[in-house]
Amino acid sequence: MTRVEEELNTALEYINKILVKKPEIAIILGSGLGGFAECIENKEIIEYKDIPGFPVSTVSGHEGRFIIGKLFDKNVVAMQGRVHYYEGYTMDRVVMPVRIMKLMGAKKLLLTNAAGGINDSFEPGTLMAINDHITSFVPSPLIGENNDSLGVRFPDMSKVYDRELLEILHATAKELDIDIKDGVYLQTTGPNYETPAEIKMYKTLGADAVGMSTACEAMAAMHMGMRIVGISCITNLAAGISKTALNHEEVKATADMISDKFTRLVKEFIKKI
Ligand code: HPA
Repeated sequence: MTRVEEELNTALEYINKILVKKPEIAIILGSGLGGFAECIENKEIIEYKDIPGFPVSTVSGHEGRFIIGKLFDKNVVAMQGRVHYYEGYTMDRVVMPVRIMKLMGAKKLLLTNAAGGINDSFEPGTLMAINDHITSFVPSPLIGENNDSLGVRFPDMSKVYDRELLEILHATAKELDIDIKDGVYLQTTGPNYETPAEIKMYKTLGADAVGMSTACEAMAAMHMGMRIVGISCITNLAAGISKTALNHEEVKATADMISDKFTRLVKEFIKKI
C-alpha cells in the first residue's frame, strides 16, 4: 500500500464511523460560494480539523468542513472550503479531500470556483461551464508511485468534463433563463494574481478563465473514474484586461453577488443528475 493510500484509509476510517448517509454526488464550493451549503437538508457536518491527517484550509472565504445531507432526493457531500497548492500543501494533499469523497461513495463531482475572466466576452458575474482545462503550469497530483487502488498509471484526459452532464447543465441554465458560457479553465499555482503578460500568454494558449484550483482536483477525480462537471464564476476581469488592481475582496464581493443565480442553477442541476 502506498503512503497516500494509507493516509486515505486512516481518514476514511474516522469518517465512516460517523457517516450515516452515503453520498452519491460531491460538490466543491469555491471562494465566496460556500453559502450554497445552506440549501442542504438533514446536515451532518465533519470538520476537516477533526479528520486524522486531513489538510485544513487557511484562506478567508473558505471554511473547512464537509457538509453531508440531502438535496431533493439526492444524498450529497459538499466541501465548504478547499485547500490550495499555494497554501504549501503538496499536490497529493491538495487532492486528498476529493479522493475521500469518491471513497465515501460519490460517483459524480461538481467543481466550482471563482476565476478571472480572459475571454473578451466575459464580464464580472459571468458563469462559465468548464469544457476543458490546462494544468501545464502546476504539478500533476498523480506524480509519485501510482495508487493502483485508485486508478491507472497513465489516465486518459481527453474528456475530463462529462459531455452528458455538461449538456444537462446548459439545458438547466436555459430553463432558468440563466446565461452560462462555455470555456477552458487554466490553473496557476497562485497565490499572486497574474501579470498582464501572463494573461496575454494564457489567452494565446486557449484559456478563457484563470484560477488557482480545480483542475488538479479534476485530474485526481478523473484518475478515479468520477463523472465531472465544473462551473467558474467570473469574479473579475483578469490582469491587464481589468483596468484596476485585483484583490481578494473584489473576488469575494462578486461571488456574493452571483451566489443567488449560482444557487438556483446548481440546485436545479443536482435535481436532474
Ligand atoms: N486570477 C487567478 N485566480 C483568480 C482570479 C484571477 O484573476 N480571480 C479569482 N480567482
